[in-house]
Amino acid sequence: MVSKTILIKPKTLSHTFIPPKLPTREAERSELTENLLDFFTSEEAYTSWSLIGSVGIGKTVLSRRVGKDLQEQINQFKLAYVNCRFSRRVYKVLVELVSQIEPSIPPRGLSRDDILNILLEILEEKGEKVLIILDEFDALFWESESRKARDLIYGLSRLVERRFGSPSKNVSLAVIAISRESELYKWLDRAARASFIRRELRLKPYNASDLFEILKYRADLAFLPGTVEEDSLELIANQVAELENGNARIAIDILVEAGKLADKKGDGFLGPEHVRTVLSQHPMTPQIDPETLSSLGKHKLLIILAIVRALKATKKSFVTRTEMEEFYEILCDEYNETPRKTTQILRYLREIKSELKGAIDIEVTGRGQRGRSSRISITIPLDKLENYLIKILEFTARFERDLI
Ligand SMILES: Nc1ncnc2c1ncn2[C@@H]1O[C@H](COP(=O)(O)OP(=O)(O)OP(=O)(O)O)[C@@H](O)[C@H]1O
Ligand SMILES: [Mg+2]
Repeated sequence: MVSKTILIKPKTLSHTFIPPKLPTREAERSELTENLLDFFTSEEAYTSWSLIGSVGIGKTVLSRRVGKDLQEQINQFKLAYVNCRFSRRVYKVLVELVSQIEPSIPPRGLSRDDILNILLEILEEKGEKVLIILDEFDALFWESESRKARDLIYGLSRLVERRFGSPSKNVSLAVIAISRESELYKWLDRAARASFIRRELRLKPYNASDLFEILKYRADLAFLPGTVEEDSLELIANQVAELENGNARIAIDILVEAGKLADKKGDGFLGPEHVRTVLSQHPMTPQIDPETLSSLGKHKLLIILAIVRALKATKKSFVTRTEMEEFYEILCDEYNETPRKTTQILRYLREIKSELKGAIDIEVTGRGQRGRSSRISITIPLDKLENYLIKILEFTARFERDLI
């Protein structure tokens, strides 16, 4: 039987795709959209938002989603989006903005002031409402360019007051400026800051449960229904929250790779082993070498092997301590060891978590679990780890036999 492709809409996982919903950022989306709707229906001529947050936490997608929301609700609305990191030069940014707002005007060869004036004329004549999104705005603040960038934002904010010293009629201009840090404020003098940044929105980093919500939603859009195991998404979410500060871009990239791997293997579902394989190849996951493993001592190795066996037997992403202990007892029998008591095992587990950080994770409470219960996961492929462990344990056993 030929397995079905499960990643049926890969485009919906591209970073330029703007999804209909933004799980865990819907509150911010409403706040921005409602505020801008109010603004565009008011008499006010100018407003701006400074959107700040660390890498990969949805700044771009949020601003573009809000742009689309407004487009759907306002007549005579124009949206211009520029990523300043690609343009690098203020002049290029301006040219790009004008050509998006009024494609018929070729602004090349014009001065910066001319371009700003053209922009104002367009706004006045057409009575249009314009939202400008300046993404990665901080990329313009370098050396001599920073002065021009400051002039630009000052120019934009004063644009509506330029003519004859009185505010222009009919003009509504809103700007969203996005940056990773508020560092760029230091480049702005008080006047520029006060007139440019009317409002500020700081986005909180995503935690594991936010990332899980996002992955779940994005996976539902992209994969054949019922083919992606939730626990596998949780495995990605936990790892990225812990090691990559909740960067959603990395989480989505891992989901895409795991989906491709599942399709390549023709498995017909996305499960924990696909995720482990992709995670183990990602630079954030530490490489576990045999030396590190052998330095852990026999009992911890038996515990890790028991985790591997339990994960393999259950085919799950997480196992509980109780599930692991069943395999641990069998292994102790096999390797002639007396099983340790639960308190000792718990101590070992805590130590393993810190000694093999990023490869083995132990959480005390888990989502959807009743009461307090340890949930244990591994982010490297199980077969390879199992082989290492067996070799080291056999070597240790042979060494012990030779000593007697
Ligand atoms: N709340 C969310 N819901 C759905 N998808 C999201 C959400 N937040 C982020 N994403 C997705 O995660 C990826 C990264 O988001 P985005 O590019 O907006 O981050 P960013 O903060 O702009 O990053 P950078 O600082 O690198 O520019 C994108 O694919 C985006 O669609
Ligand atoms: Mg961005």
